[in-house]
Formats: sequence, structure tokens, C-alpha cells
Amino acid sequence: MSDEALAALVEQVRAGREYAALAPDFVIGIAAVELAHRGPGKATTKAVRSRLHQMVGAYEAPPADAPARLAAASDEELPALAAQLRGRHASTREREAAAADFWSAVLADLPQPVSITDLACGLQPLSLPLVDLPRDVLYRAFDVHLGILATAEAFLQRWGQTHEVGSWDLLAGPPPGGHDLVLLLKTLPCLEQGRRGAGRALLAALEAQTVIVTYPLRSLGGRQVGMADHYRQQLAASVDGMPWRVEPLDLRGELGFRLRRA
Ligand SMILES: C[S@@+](CC[C@H](N)C(=O)[O-])C[C@H]1O[C@@H](n2cnc3c(N)ncnc32)[C@H](O)[C@@H]1O
Repeated sequence: MSDEALAALVEQVRAGREYAALAPDFVIGIAAVELAHRGPGKATTKAVRSRLHQMVGAYEAPPADAPARLAAASDEELPALAAQLRGRHASTREREAAAADFWSAVLADLPQPVSITDLACGLQPLSLPLVDLPRDVLYRAFDVHLGILATAEAFLQRWGQTHEVGSWDLLAGPPPGGHDLVLLLKTLPCLEQGRRGAGRALLAALEAQTVIVTYPLRSLGGRQVGMADHYRQQLAASVDGMPWRVEPLDLRGELGFRLRRA
């Protein structure tokens, strides 16, 4: 596989509007695997796009003017604007009816976190108006969609939360260092679409006190048959033999678990 072939493939893929907003390193990683497997050609471009669509594109991007609107919002306008934007992300939107209860359930029985690391965050950082979190708790938000990251950054800045926002491809492992409370919300199935076993590799390498793992209870197309059982088994296999103690978390609308160091 030549560097030129890979560069040409990445350029073709990112020429599509849906893919232009994805972090280049993330696209390169997926493209390299497909190129090695299939060789150059239109079918490879299509396969890369299809994989990226399943992992990221299907969730819809925030509007391009979202960061500017957040930056310009008054204190009174900010919570309603954040709610409106959460409604634009297919995954974060599913949580909306129970978003405040979600935070209460996640933080129950835990000491006040020093930091929250939101992996593959989507627009979940924009739900902070629904929780009484001190502004000096460090909120770290990572994703591979540059529009999501710009929107999260603008919101956290305007909200006054101590924060760090960055592009990070979880297929390459977790962000380095130790973490306090980690959110891994409805993300492990996306990672499995990218590479089978990626979820287990991530959980093995993650240095954290507590990890909240959730799974969707219905597909984006609305199907829900057997998903809870399937994902219960998937998580059990993903942590088998690891020093994580897994407790069920009672959430509305998604299947939740709290993982603590055993
Ligand atoms: C199902 S959504 C979940 C979003 C959010 N955690 C929530 O529950 O509201 C999956 C998110 O994972 C991100 N994503 C997909 N693959 C990723 C990867 N390899 N590394 C980091 N983020 C990824 C997508 O951009 C999308 O925002």
C-alpha cells in the first residue's frame, strides 16, 4: 500500500460533505485498513464511507453556526439553545426526555468527581445545564467529529465549565493518563463497527476509577428486539478477566452499567 494511494483515498472520502468534518487521522486509520484489505478503487472509497457513516455520520452534525450562536447567547438563552442543539444529535436526543434523571443516576453513590472524561461525547456536554456540577470540575470531551467538538468547546466556554476538548480516535485506545469518572455512552457498538474487539481493548487500557457504560435499547431505525440481552453479553465478554466490577445502572431509555476497579 503506497502513501500516495492512501492520501488519494482519504481525499476522495473527505470530498463528501458528510465526511469533511471528520478528524483526518480517524479517516486515515479506517482508510488504511480498507485499502490493505481491498486495494484501490471505487469499491474501497464506498466501503470506507459506509464504515464512517455507521460510526459517526448516522448521528447528524450540529449546524455550522452552532458555535457562534452559543458564544453569543445570553445567560438566559443558553440552556434553551443547548437543549435545541442536543435535539440535533440522533444519539444525545434519545436521552432528552430523561436527561436530568440520567445525570442523577450517574452521579449517585459517587464522591464529587474531580474530572469527567466524556469519550465519544456527541452533544452530551451540552446537557450540563441539567446537573448541578461545580464549574471547577474539569470536563474533558473527546470525539472525532470536528463540528461536534467546536460546538462542545463553544458551549463549555460560554457555560464557564473548566474544560478540555479534543479530537481523539478511540480505536487507537483511550486518551493517556489516569481518569476519574469516565462516560462511555452508547459508544462501544460504534467502536465494534470500526474494529471487532475495539471495545475490549479500550476497557483494558482505560485507567479510571469509574466508567459509566451505556448501550442503546433501539437501533436508529427503531428496532429493539433482543438488544438488551445482546449488549449485556457483549459487555460481559468485553470485561471478562479484567479487574472491573460491573453493576447495573437504572437508566430510562438506555441500558446502563457502572464499572469500578475491583
Ligand atoms: C452513538 S453516538 C454517542 C454520543 C454520546 N456519547 C451520547 O451518548 O450522547 C457515538 C459518538 O461516537 C463518536 N465516535 C464514533 N467513532 C469514534 C471513535 N473511533 N473515536 C471517538 N469517537 C467516535 C461519534 O462521532 C458520535 O458522536
